[in-house]
Amino acid sequence: MLAIIGGTGMAQLACLEISHRQIMRTPYGEPSGPLTFGKINNHEVVFLARHGYGHTIPPHAVNYRANLWALRSLSLSRVISVASVGGIRADFTPGMAAIPDQIIDYTHSRKYTYYDGTDRPITHIDFTEPYCPITRERLLEAAKRANEKVIDGGVYGATQGPRLETAAEINRLERDGVDMVGMTGMPEAALAKELGLCYATIAVVANYAAGRATSAHAIRLEDAHAVLEKAMVGVRNILEWVVEL
Ligand code: HPA
Repeated sequence: MLAIIGGTGMAQLACLEISHRQIMRTPYGEPSGPLTFGKINNHEVVFLARHGYGHTIPPHAVNYRANLWALRSLSLSRVISVASVGGIRADFTPGMAAIPDQIIDYTHSRKYTYYDGTDRPITHIDFTEPYCPITRERLLEAAKRANEKVIDGGVYGATQGPRLETAAEINRLERDGVDMVGMTGMPEAALAKELGLCYATIAVVANYAAGRATSAHAIRLEDAHAVLEKAMVGVRNILEWVVEL
């Protein structure tokens, strides 16, 4: 079974034939909402809306540990996350999608590890490759079959939010080598790795990052929503193919 974590613009998965929903409890509290079980083209999928089904949980308040623990408890191995981002690199224009291959964590004050108690031996997971290369390849192959253009690779910068960045912060991120900026990539990716899940992300560019291109003016979130709605059609198309691989 494949797990899909939907982000902003994907609180539901239209192509999912729902069979049932299940409320889960974990040692870390409750996930963002009940898990939705169903099928895409006859393949079993479980879906979770990262921000809750009514989109009420801001990025810094998402219970990432509970979300991934709940998915792990289903004994599945593959998790695809969908996340909206601001574009920094010139080709990361609104509406484009990317399969990032690296991440830099600028978040703080989040519960970012399962290894913070005294109940387990200290463990330093290897995080050289934050995203599962096999899952990334499958996403790229699915995009190819679906005839959807995606950027192969890129560095995701995870900021704390919920505010957007200053222009100077975006310049700094660019100097760091960040191509796209979002608020949910961490600690999600690291927690998935701690649990041994094969995790990869489809990042959808909702807007130019602060101070970039047309956004000499403030970022208009209404525009971003319209861009995302359109781009999610392409993402669903990719997901319909990825279940076949
Ligand atoms: N910054 C941070 N997170 C985001 C953005 C952004 O510009 N757009 C969508 N998520």
